[in-house]
Amino acid sequence: MSTVEISAQYIQHITPLVGAELPHFIAACQRPLRKSIRINTLTTDAQQWLSVSSAEKQTPVPWWPNAYWIEDDSSLASGNNKLHIQGAYYIQEASSMLPVAALLHDNQSPLPTQPLILDMAAAPGSKTTQLAAALDNQGCIIANELSSTRLKYLAANVQRMGVTNTCLTHFDGIKFGQYLPETFDAIILDAPCGGEGTVRKDPTALKNWNLPSVQEMAALQKRLIRSAFLSLKTGGVMIYSTCTLSKEENQDVCYSLMQEFGDLVEFESLATLFDGAERALTEEGFLHVFPQIFDSEGFFIAKIRKLGPTTKASELAKPYLKKFPFEPLPTKNQKPFFAYLNQQFGMKEAHISGSIWQRDKEIWLLPDSIKHLIGVIKFNRIGIKLADVYPKNYRLSYDFAIAFGHLAQRNRIELNQTDTKSYLMGKDIKIEDKSQMGEQILTSDQVAIGLGKCNKGKLKNQLPRELVKDKLNW
Ligand SMILES: C[S@@+](CC[C@H](N)C(=O)[O-])C[C@H]1O[C@@H](n2cnc3c(N)ncnc32)[C@H](O)[C@@H]1O
Repeated sequence: MSTVEISAQYIQHITPLVGAELPHFIAACQRPLRKSIRINTLTTDAQQWLSVSSAEKQTPVPWWPNAYWIEDDSSLASGNNKLHIQGAYYIQEASSMLPVAALLHDNQSPLPTQPLILDMAAAPGSKTTQLAAALDNQGCIIANELSSTRLKYLAANVQRMGVTNTCLTHFDGIKFGQYLPETFDAIILDAPCGGEGTVRKDPTALKNWNLPSVQEMAALQKRLIRSAFLSLKTGGVMIYSTCTLSKEENQDVCYSLMQEFGDLVEFESLATLFDGAERALTEEGFLHVFPQIFDSEGFFIAKIRKLGPTTKASELAKPYLKKFPFEPLPTKNQKPFFAYLNQQFGMKEAHISGSIWQRDKEIWLLPDSIKHLIGVIKFNRIGIKLADVYPKNYRLSYDFAIAFGHLAQRNRIELNQTDTKSYLMGKDIKIEDKSQMGEQILTSDQVAIGLGKCNKGKLKNQLPRELVKDKLNW
């Protein structure tokens, strides 16, 4: 028997929106949520992956390629799954894939080839990593999060998924309009919300529902959407999304922009986002996804274009002027590094897109468009470290191995299940081929898992200490 409790007050509140669908809505809220995953195409060949996972149990999600609903008993549903630890996929609710799909679905005004994008409320990173994968790590994503604890999950997911085009910031989202007006080609505001749509996962989500909490949340959302709109370039596009259902936190928030900025705001219809989208379409062209429509979580997605400039001089904030700790690595110093990558792994410079910078004795890869933001905002994490430089050699970073390991043509060792487990538990591994020397990219099921250093038949474990697992249940 289901333990979902829906307060009478909530039913009364939502009835005008759901209309005759109310019994289906209530029935859907009582059903457990289907689990879904998204394959990480940054580091994983989708076809290869399907062959190593239980492909026969998967149903494609119609609005995102390489995303599937999986059976409840699938081992893929566990974050402890080996392929999950390797970043081969992300456990992401299917409707939560809609905001990025909506952002990129544009026949008339596609994004520039190297877009600068803000993900204003980004943790734990499902949309940041989805977007990075769709952009194939091109362009630059600023992934912002207010909560320090959640920022750590965001950083871990960005690392796990081999994302290289993302920089993390740690601000209240309401600051962006002042800090960075007219800056971003696109913005995702996946706002903090009342979470009414999550009841199939969290049976208590609607138990203590009350209108004042909704109104309080809506007030914050209006400040955030305003900030996002100010921070958007003229001609730019933003997505406003929530996993809640009340119109106070959804339609009304979008209309608050129109009330303030009038003709500068255009709602773009999501009618053609995928076959069947019209079933969730509102008269404005938003998607209001009630859980019974696609048998998913409840979600709301609006696509908004900015048609003219908004910045007022009085709203500008002073730039952040602290010295930027990175400087471009001169080409003459890049050459030996790329020569090493080529000689050791057969990798080409062209495989590594972005700009090469240095910080002390470290080599870093930063997104190209970051130069527009240097000295303007403070970053919590920026691009990825590629390597430490020593007088006679380099030591590649774990982040490098995860992001680029799949490109290695040689000095790449495929670990079996037992050795993968040993590696993840921080142990050294015995290697049959004693001639193998130096840094090795380690893969498991052909997905990079880290680095090791070979010497006379012994593979020294180089997994960062904080990633070593005490136990693994497989
Ligand atoms: C719906 S969640 C975001 C989920 C995320 N986009 C994803 O797909 O994984 C909303 C996030 O907003 C953060 N948040 C709350 N208030 C914020 C604010 N004022 N500025 C920025 N982030 C905020 C919350 O901590 C939470 O992580």
